[in-house]
Amino acid sequence: MQRDLISIHDLSRAEIDKIFALASKLKKKPLQNWLSGKSLAMIFEKPSTRTRVSFEVGMFELGGTTIHLSPNAVQLGVRESIADVARTLSCYVDGVMLRTFHHRDLVEFARWSTVPVINGLSDLSHPCQSLADIFTIKELKNLENLKISYIGDGNNVCHSLMLICAKMGINLVVATPKGYEPKYEITRLAKTDAKQTKAIIEIVNDPRTAVKGADVIYTDVWASMGQEKESAARKQIFKNFQVNKSLVKLAKKNALIMHCLPAHRGEEITDEVIEGPNSIVFDQAENRLHVQKAVLAILLGGKKR
Ligand code: CP
Ligand code: NVA
Repeated sequence: MQRDLISIHDLSRAEIDKIFALASKLKKKPLQNWLSGKSLAMIFEKPSTRTRVSFEVGMFELGGTTIHLSPNAVQLGVRESIADVARTLSCYVDGVMLRTFHHRDLVEFARWSTVPVINGLSDLSHPCQSLADIFTIKELKNLENLKISYIGDGNNVCHSLMLICAKMGINLVVATPKGYEPKYEITRLAKTDAKQTKAIIEIVNDPRTAVKGADVIYTDVWASMGQEKESAARKQIFKNFQVNKSLVKLAKKNALIMHCLPAHRGEEITDEVIEGPNSIVFDQAENRLHVQKAVLAILLGGKKR
């Protein structure tokens, strides 16, 4: 496996399988001493519940520790350069998890860090989320011939989902309003990988077409962290992209409902759907812990397993 986890695109299918196998093992037997004496620094430029707590608990359960650095404490690129922070932290800790506004800052950090760097969400991608998402689906369904429909914004969560589906041979239809499609560079990477695995990765502008025959419906907020000022305008633009009862009816019976959380109920998803019997949003949240522990164990080393 690569030294860092910056993008799903950098992982091979075998590496993803290895993460999943180790995550299953850790889910059954959470307490291990594989990272005893190791530490992970975590820099958050944006708020977090799941990512912060799952990494903290994950390191603890593996025998290691975490240091949480708030944006004010570090002021990446403001108080001192990203290169200097990366080289300084590398003297003390065994790994760094970063949540940044700009993906380029994460890449710059990884360039200078001499310890593994994990992407805990950037404006471009959220690889830990998509690993947990596919792991969650795999616990419940056969991934072969599976169809996922992602409805909403072509954002960071959508990008990582596209990349992992392409790698794993999972069919994915993304439906966004015009002008809010996934970034061209991500679509190109996903389509290139999909050629190898025969996954069908499609981007459309009609949510109703997208959900036809879907095994899984996935959505995320219409305005991501950092886009709060666009929130009112986006509510108008995305109003036909709500995952509600009438949209869900067009998918396969008992299609799974997914959301990375936090959710804005009444916007991208109705309360009824997210609280419905096919919603697996808290399984996704739980699996962040197990999957990230596998990533930490692999990247930060430890005893043979
Ligand atoms: N899904 C997710 O990353 O949640 P947080 O923003 O709470 O970490
Ligand atoms: N797209 C969302 C995901 C939050 C986990 C955001 O970036 O705010």
